[in-house]
Parts: sequence; structure tokens; C-alpha cells
Amino acid sequence: MNVYDGERMAEMLAAQGLSEAGEGAEPDLVILNTCHIREKAVDKVYSDIGRLKREDGSRPMIAVAGCVAQAEGAEIMRRARTVDIVVGPQAYHRLPDLVAKAAAGQAALDTDMPADSKFDALPRRSKNPRVSAFLTVQEGCDKFCTYCVVPYTRGAEVSRPWAAVMDEARALVDAGAREITLLGQNVNAWTGEDEAGRTQGLDGLIRALDRLPGLARIRYTTSHPNDMADGLIAAHGDVASLMPFLHLPVQSGSDRILKAMNRSHDSASYLRLIDRVRAVRPDIALSGDFIVGFPGETEADFEATMHIVREARYAHAFSFKYSPRPGTPAADMDGMIPLEVMDARLKALQDEIIQGQVAFNRASVGKVTQVLLERAGRHPGQLIGKSPWLQSVVVEEPGATIGDLVTVELVSAGPNSLGGRIVARAAA
Ligand code: 5AD
Ligand code: SF4
Repeated sequence: MNVYDGERMAEMLAAQGLSEAGEGAEPDLVILNTCHIREKAVDKVYSDIGRLKREDGSRPMIAVAGCVAQAEGAEIMRRARTVDIVVGPQAYHRLPDLVAKAAAGQAALDTDMPADSKFDALPRRSKNPRVSAFLTVQEGCDKFCTYCVVPYTRGAEVSRPWAAVMDEARALVDAGAREITLLGQNVNAWTGEDEAGRTQGLDGLIRALDRLPGLARIRYTTSHPNDMADGLIAAHGDVASLMPFLHLPVQSGSDRILKAMNRSHDSASYLRLIDRVRAVRPDIALSGDFIVGFPGETEADFEATMHIVREARYAHAFSFKYSPRPGTPAADMDGMIPLEVMDARLKALQDEIIQGQVAFNRASVGKVTQVLLERAGRHPGQLIGKSPWLQSVVVEEPGATIGDLVTVELVSAGPNSLGGRIVARAAA
């Protein structure tokens, strides 16, 4: 979502006459679009600010945007005196005013969560987007997992209206996008009314996008298990452009820890849910997020996490050491896990996840499938695209171009990518 927000900020400032400084150029304004989810991400912001000096000792105007801006507000300006602008994730449509203020030497801070959506104030998408584009349809979170800052930094769950989403999707396709990934902290909680006034869930939106000429692929992320509605599961079985990939974080395999995390699902209900998705889409690539070292996590709790990783058969997963976030309930819990224990658990978990990923990739070898070519590879003539299962596929084919949807035989597999041979160019 920060990638999406960054693009929108750039588009909005471009409409004001600012242009992106190219690689190596000396910018007049630097926007650091920040993440507050773990402490490490926050530390990085402050070290980045410290490095923003020009050779002659002067510095550009510096704006801190995103969730660190939201969470720390004016504290950032106190801690890093060189910061000129602080703008939260729901207020960035006001950046032009903030830049003008800062240029006039005034304090420029905006961490409001206005009732009117920033999306209404942003310009219509016109720039040539990537072949695979992001589209935010939902923001915020009402789940309040006890470790997580998102409900505080991104605010309550809000769905963008149907027409706004459809309009932006059309604009993206007109500008060259072949794939759209619908974004939201709880994207599967999206709800809205269609043109006929009928209440729709994310599956309704996906079905409407499926009918959009020129759009070949639809993805969505991130989902909460409790919002995985029957209709959405069904869509995985019968909407051809909905790709067979599901990012469905479970965080832990231990019911005791899931309870302490306030996840409001248990490991068995999660596994049953996956079974239901696999019943309609057996080849689905499942992905997840895990936290190790949540306060009070015992060896047995951790073993339960290792167990669920084996049971669920992930194609891919992210895993993190628990990071206490100020203001969240878990930050005050007893039973902090020593760093060495967290490190050891993270390593064991990541080894298990990688094993699953390698197995998933190896099992793909021999398949003939569609690959959407997205960017140039490292060597001349090489192109990199994505399989339906979100695997990176490298092809060597001088005749092919970025944006092509090609039929590829997957011929080799590594842990992070596959090699493919183009069999045919698919029709649009
Ligand atoms: N510590 C570690 N990981 C966290 N996540 C969210 N909050 C924390 C935290 N305090 C992870 C979760 C979430 C992902 C986006 O980040 O796994 O799904
Ligand atoms: Fe954070 Fe996701 Fe839990 Fe919401 S559902 S509180 S975003 S981890």
C-alpha cells in the first residue's frame, strides 16, 4: 500500500508542476513514505533522514509521510530538526499546501483523519502505470490484534465506493495495466453498493472487474480469515481472471497465542477455511504471515506454529520477530521472549517455510501456464514475469515484450524464481 500511496503522491505533485527527480539527480523535496509496523522500519526512517544531506552541506526539503508520521506526529520534528513536513496516510492529498507552508517557513504538520476521503481529492490516474498495478479499495482495520499498530495509524475500516474503484480500474487499464491487485489492510472486508444499489462484497467487485475489457488478471491482498466470505471462496472456483493465490495470515499455530493476540479464530478453523478454498481451487498458492516470540510464547506454542506451516502447505510466507509497538496491548504483556530465543525460532520457521516454497516451485516444473511479462531481467534478452501463482518466471526470448501474456512451459525451479520457455504468445 505504501507503493500505491507513493505513486499517488507523485501524481498529485506532478499535477502541481513538480516532477520526479531522476536517479542521481539532486531533489528539492524528498518524501520518506514510512512504515510503523515494526521497530526496525521506524529506526530506518531516522537513519535515512540523517543521510539526506547534499555535498555542499545544504539539504532538500524533507517530508515524512505514512504511518510513522501518523504515530509520532510533531515528535518527529523534535527528534529530527531537519524535517519540514509531517503528513499522515489519510492526509497526503494536502501535500501541495504543506509544501507551500514549509517553503514559507511555517510548521507543516497534518495527521488528521478527515471524514472526506483523500481519494476524492487525488487526480484521475493518467500516468503509464506498471503492467501490474495496485489499487487501494479498502483501508484501515477494526480487528485490533493486540500486537498491531495498524488500527491506530491507518484508522477504522473504510471501503472505497464501487464507482470510484471501477473508475480507477478503467483508468489503469486504459494506461496499460493488464493486472490489478486490489489492496486493503482487510481487503476482504470490502463492502459497497453496485450501480443497481445492491450490497456487494469483494467477490462482487471482483466479478465486475472480471468483465472489464483488457484486464487479464485480478489479485487481492491482505485478507483476514474471518472475512473470507462464502462468495469470495466461490469466486476462486469460477472467476477465470482471479489468480490462484491467497495471502491469508494466521500469525501463529497456537490457539493460546492466537487468543492472546485477539485473532478471533483458532488454528482448526483456519485449516478448515483453507480446505474449503482448496476444494474449489486445488492448485491455489497459499501465503501467510507469522510472528514468533509473541509475549509468553512457549516451545510448545512455537511447535504448534511449525505444525500449522506443515499442515497448510504454504507456497510462500513472511515471518517476523515480535516487535513491541507503543500503545498496543501486547506491549504491556508479561513474558517477553529473549532475543536469542526469537532468533532461533525465526530461523527454524524460515527454514521450514523455504522448504515448502522450494517444494511448491519444484512441483510447478513441467506445467504449461500463462506468464505476464513485467520487467527486463538482468541479462540482455531476458524478461521476468509472474505465473498465476505469483512466482517470478525468467524467460529468454528476444521477440517478447513487457506487457505480453505468454504461454510458458516451466522448465526449472529455484527457491525464489523459475525458468520458463515461451510456447506461444497468448491473445489479449
Ligand atoms: N511485531 C511483529 N510483526 C508484526 N506484524 C504486525 N505487527 C507486528 C509486530 N508488532 C506482522 C504481522 C502482519 C504483518 C503485516 O506484519 O504478521 O500480518
Ligand atoms: Fe493488524 Fe491485520 Fe490484525 Fe488488523 S487484522 S490489527 S492490520 S494484524
